[in-house]
Amino acid sequence: MSAALETRDLARSFGGIAAVAGVSLAVERGARHALIGPNGAGKTTLINLLSGALKPGRGQVLLDGEDVTRLPQYRRVKRGLARTFQVNQLFPNLSPLESVGLALAEREGVCGRWWWPRHLRAAIRDEAWALLDGLGLAGQAGQPARQLPYGRQRLVEIALALALKPRVLLLDEPAAGVPRGEGGELFARLAALPRDVTVLLIEHDMDLVFRFAERITVLVGGVVLVDDVPARVAADPRVREVYLGETPMGAAALDRPGHG
Ligand SMILES: Nc1ncnc2c1ncn2[C@@H]1O[C@H](COP(=O)(O)OP(=O)(O)OP(=O)(O)O)[C@@H](O)[C@H]1O
Ligand SMILES: [Mg+2]
Repeated sequence: MSAALETRDLARSFGGIAAVAGVSLAVERGARHALIGPNGAGKTTLINLLSGALKPGRGQVLLDGEDVTRLPQYRRVKRGLARTFQVNQLFPNLSPLESVGLALAEREGVCGRWWWPRHLRAAIRDEAWALLDGLGLAGQAGQPARQLPYGRQRLVEIALALALKPRVLLLDEPAAGVPRGEGGELFARLAALPRDVTVLLIEHDMDLVFRFAERITVLVGGVVLVDDVPARVAADPRVREVYLGETPMGAAALDRPGHG
């Protein structure tokens, strides 16, 4: 069976800098896969190549075994590849229920209509509730987004991406700017998403990475250094060398018992 998402010798340079320099990677169906690596390793560039936000200099991107390298971003979304929105795209005065309801209406092609059939309205409301409930947001579904803690606002963005019914979800540092306690909850929610959603995410906090990931790819200088299960990544001397002394959470977190 083909991987949910795959790259073959994918590369992209900016001027003289090879940001991504020949990456071949497979993200299996249902994976909880993390992409880690030091600043400037090429992680965001790789996600942008996967989503179609950037065009590669060479190589291929395959979604469910089909070559989508030449497809623009919106057509990859239609094929089930979603990524989270930037946080400033949340409407601060809309509640999660309203935002997700709008996203669902958009998906169903009824967004701009002044009249929807009653059954469709009920179906959309039910689906929005179910989605928010699944992310632990039911209790705040009616509050304006701006009143929610930041970690919960990021969960609403994830709900918006899930409203597209993606098969693959890409997240670039979903916990960035989120207080540590909230980051833990956010990652627990991501790990608990239905298995028909494949998740690939970038994260710097090793605690969160090891709590979430079943597979880890370490990117350094635009190439894959290691791609393995967490326990073997944590024990790999090359990884330890990259992370040693890098951040307070770096190598120390690799030693935490019970991970992997
Ligand atoms: N649009 C761009 N124009 C020029 N150089 C870029 C551009 N985007 C990225 N780069 C360069 O490509 C390299 C990889 O950047 P990228 O943002 O992919 O790294 P990253 O692994 O996401 O880093 P971080 O952990 O800091 O987010 C860096 O040297 C960066 O300066
Ligand atoms: Mg980045």
